[in-house]
Amino acid sequence: MQSLVVEGGKRISGEIKLQGAKNSALPILAASILSRGETVLKNCPKLTDVYAACRILSHLGCNCLIEGNNIKVKSSVINKTEVPENLMHKMRSSIIFLGAVLGRTGECKLSFPGGCELGPRPIDIHLSALRKMGVTIKEEYGELNCTVEKELHGAKIILPFPSVGATENVILASVLAKGETEIKNAAREPEIVDLSNYLNCCGAKIVGAGSGTISITGVPYLSGCEYAVMPDRIVAATYLSAAAITAGELNITDIKTGDIESILPVFEEMGCYLYSYADNLYVNAKKILKPVKKLITMPYPGFPTDAQHMIMAALCKAKGTSMFVENIFENRYKHVDELVKMGADIKAEGKVAVVEGVDRLFGTTVNATDLRGGAALVIAGLAAEGITTISNISHIDRGYDEIEKALSSVGANVVRI
Ligand code: UD1
Repeated sequence: MQSLVVEGGKRISGEIKLQGAKNSALPILAASILSRGETVLKNCPKLTDVYAACRILSHLGCNCLIEGNNIKVKSSVINKTEVPENLMHKMRSSIIFLGAVLGRTGECKLSFPGGCELGPRPIDIHLSALRKMGVTIKEEYGELNCTVEKELHGAKIILPFPSVGATENVILASVLAKGETEIKNAAREPEIVDLSNYLNCCGAKIVGAGSGTISITGVPYLSGCEYAVMPDRIVAATYLSAAAITAGELNITDIKTGDIESILPVFEEMGCYLYSYADNLYVNAKKILKPVKKLITMPYPGFPTDAQHMIMAALCKAKGTSMFVENIFENRYKHVDELVKMGADIKAEGKVAVVEGVDRLFGTTVNATDLRGGAALVIAGLAAEGITTISNISHIDRGYDEIEKALSSVGANVVRI
């Protein structure tokens, strides 16, 4: 099993090119099933979750070729409609294949995605929306058996919560369906816009992505296209946190600052100087960080739940008290115990975590409990005294394209062993 070894106390300074977004690459790869031509997906991050998505595509009959950051998918033939359990479990967000396989073939069988490290991850919103579109869903023995009797048809769908995955699944199921689909209370995340842009590039008719109402007019056919995945806004927040906790200075290139408008004020509140120009974001952090009064996670355009962990790690060394309120997932403070092992003073209860800044963090052996929690430990390790060894880093590799290389290129000492 691999670990990351971080030698603390090195100041971040330099430039990092931002990787492509995991949460955009995965639904776009699933969407490539809907096209009958070739998709050339550029700027794809090299991640285990992306490779898992490619294995699902290959299993379904697609021809999937990975060349560095480019992935070519030929989906003229789909000869399976079942995603086996072992592939479902390799990637937590594999449920996104449901809408795509249904949209292409009218049937899909997959295992029920169980709970995960974020607590229970229900899919009731996905399923009730798909039922409205004419899908019959049988849930038996942990499996979902989905069929369409006549044809998938458009529907007016009001989501009870703007779920990212449910919005994506409805978009995927509706682009080739008969008639009009309207999604109200849709998720507005930039990754939804990216997925829709890709599908429109293939010939789909999606209007309103990025707003609370998305309208889709079904088309009979989608071609392939060449498309570049958007930059990863959560990885951007991670590198900003790395600069903040080391009193560093960093220029992030290939970034879309407009996508992180809820994150930037948090760094400003911490006392960091930010300057954005074209597709660059420059950050210069003060020696002593200020606390953040209250950071509340919300659906986009609110502050993203995925960025909470790394910013919490940075605030462990702020001068004063910061408060977090986690509103999206039930169980998203698992990294707190590990940060406490490093000397952090954090109390978490239910949705709320209170961070009392400390002068010193200490390197020790800690465990990455989940993807972003693991990244938070790397951030803390950068400013800890001595050596931090982070185990279970397969979680981190699900979302970061060689985090050790990116951070080492700007002055950190992070090694994979
Ligand atoms: C996506 C992101 C994930 C991010 C999350 C919230 C991907 C691959 N993953 O996950 O990184 O943390 O958005 O921004 O894009 N819910 C239900 N029933 C459902 C669906 C969701 O109760 O049918 C609840 C979930 O349990 C959770 C909340 O809604 O509490 C948000 O979930 P959702 O927006 O669906 O997140 P994901 O798409 O799973």
